[in-house]
Amino acid sequence: MKRDVISMLDVKDDLFEILDLAAEIKRKQKAGEIYEPLKNKTLGMIFEKPSTRTRISFEVGMTQLGGHAIYLSPKDMQMGRGETVADTARVLSRYVDAIMYRAFSHDIMLELAKNATVPVINGLDDVEHPTQILADLLTIREHKGDFKGLKFVYVGDGNNVANSLALGAAMVGMDFYIACPEGYEPNAYIWQKAREIAAENGSKMEILRNHVKAVKDADVIYTDVAVSMGQEAEAEVRERIFRAYQVNEELVSHAKDDYIFMHCLPAHRGHEVTDGVVDSPNSVVFDEAENRLHAQKGLLVKLLGE
Ligand code: CP
Ligand code: NVA
Repeated sequence: MKRDVISMLDVKDDLFEILDLAAEIKRKQKAGEIYEPLKNKTLGMIFEKPSTRTRISFEVGMTQLGGHAIYLSPKDMQMGRGETVADTARVLSRYVDAIMYRAFSHDIMLELAKNATVPVINGLDDVEHPTQILADLLTIREHKGDFKGLKFVYVGDGNNVANSLALGAAMVGMDFYIACPEGYEPNAYIWQKAREIAAENGSKMEILRNHVKAVKDADVIYTDVAVSMGQEAEAEVRERIFRAYQVNEELVSHAKDDYIFMHCLPAHRGHEVTDGVVDSPNSVVFDEAENRLHAQKGLLVKLLGE
């Protein structure tokens, strides 16, 4: 049976195994050891939206593991001229060993996965961004040692990144708080799932309105853009609503002294976060970006290795 990773829920049972594998693969790479378990394997990568980190880290990751990745843009494929997603999935499955898909719609993501006979990895859609969260967890563990007892505070839109973070935090037992305006909470189904998992792990999950109170004594502060890809029509309203939620020097002064600042990037500097915070010694955003590579290599080996 092929295994898809569309949601963080798809890695719930072996999340720590994947993180450990990623850490070991990172160690190998830093030590200059060649590790090519995916020789002759090909990853097809379909991007409906732009990408810097996801595209490059998957492509470089496949190369380093001895395999190959192909960048596919719908507008250059027959998909852009009306070939169905289902047929595209069936055809690609005859050529490649796995498909990474960055999609506008979660439903189309599911449609592709249903029709592909090879594993499908969600490289971001409008509901989740699981490969980002694998890298985020790896980064938190590197900087904080352990997850238990950490206060993780997400400030901003309850978007795809926030949804996957809520699930990821619950799975590793961090206390998860999101400070967001009314109407911009995480997906209700995902939030419910995350609460159930957190209850099993004895950790807290809470939605708050006051971001200043939320970040008090935080170990991790995380934010993301107010306007995600595909929400451009709402840009003006969103920018206005989220202005009050900016992560700036005053806000982070309420966190613990050794708090870390995280952002999936790209950052919209001067909007959801100030230069002073992104460029501060507490910021780990570039470690986090680097860990996309290592975390995804762990995932790829897990899905495609012998
Ligand atoms: N964080 C992230 O997914 O970045 P890209 O959009 O550049 O891939
Ligand atoms: N929430 C953002 C994340 C970008 C990596 C978006 O979907 O555009």
